[in-house]
Amino acid sequence: MSRIAVIGGTGMNQWPGLEVDRRIELDTPYGPPSAPLLEGRVYGRRAIFLARHGEGHKIPPHKINYRANLWALREAGVQSVIAIAAVGGIAPWFAPGEIAVPKDLIDYTFDREHTYSDGSTGSELHHVEFSEPYAESLRAGLLDAARLSQTPVVGEGVLAVTQGPRLESVAEVRRIQRDGCDMVGMTGMPEAGLARELGLDYACLALSVNWAAGVQGIGDIHAEIARSIEDGMRKVRAVLAQLLPT
Ligand code: HPA
Repeated sequence: MSRIAVIGGTGMNQWPGLEVDRRIELDTPYGPPSAPLLEGRVYGRRAIFLARHGEGHKIPPHKINYRANLWALREAGVQSVIAIAAVGGIAPWFAPGEIAVPKDLIDYTFDREHTYSDGSTGSELHHVEFSEPYAESLRAGLLDAARLSQTPVVGEGVLAVTQGPRLESVAEVRRIQRDGCDMVGMTGMPEAGLARELGLDYACLALSVNWAAGVQGIGDIHAEIARSIEDGMRKVRAVLAQLLPT
């Protein structure tokens, strides 16, 4: 398979077990990415890792330089990007601890640098197709890897991407649910759109870490996240272990 990168976020800001051979420090026309790209081996397989929120997990979702991140990955020769996302579950089948490979998304974000076609000098206007935001071949690869690792993973779902960094109100989640979304996170866009603009294959491995606001009443969401995230990310890494090239 082509060169694969993993963008890790909340709960996987580092990759335990990754033996780093090379820290790739790149600048881009959009500024530096969130962190150096870490190239190395894990489970005897090759991987490139980027910490979406920066090495100290300090960059909030709306301040991430998504354009620089995707640009740097392409510069490093990456062709396929797996985005790891901790999300809130909305659909009844997406309880905390469950994993999904979403098939579609709705973008509720605003004021983010969301395109390379930004009208600046030298940029060309492209209306990229986005009927299917995720690369089907990569989704299929993830679902095969899930089967091989005997990790239950749902191969569908619509991801809502909200602005953050605050969590949603109950009414916001109800609206998102009416819109047809099954889960909600804060970083899926513009990441997916920019990957498409650069011609990168992109898919998301989403871990439910809490019930979204109001879905199961009002509770302590942070406590719920703390309970589910570590074990869930272990399962996510088990899937990755089967996907990465040797
Ligand atoms: N909403 C938005 N983003 C999230 C959530 C949530 O409930 N949980 C984890 N990321």
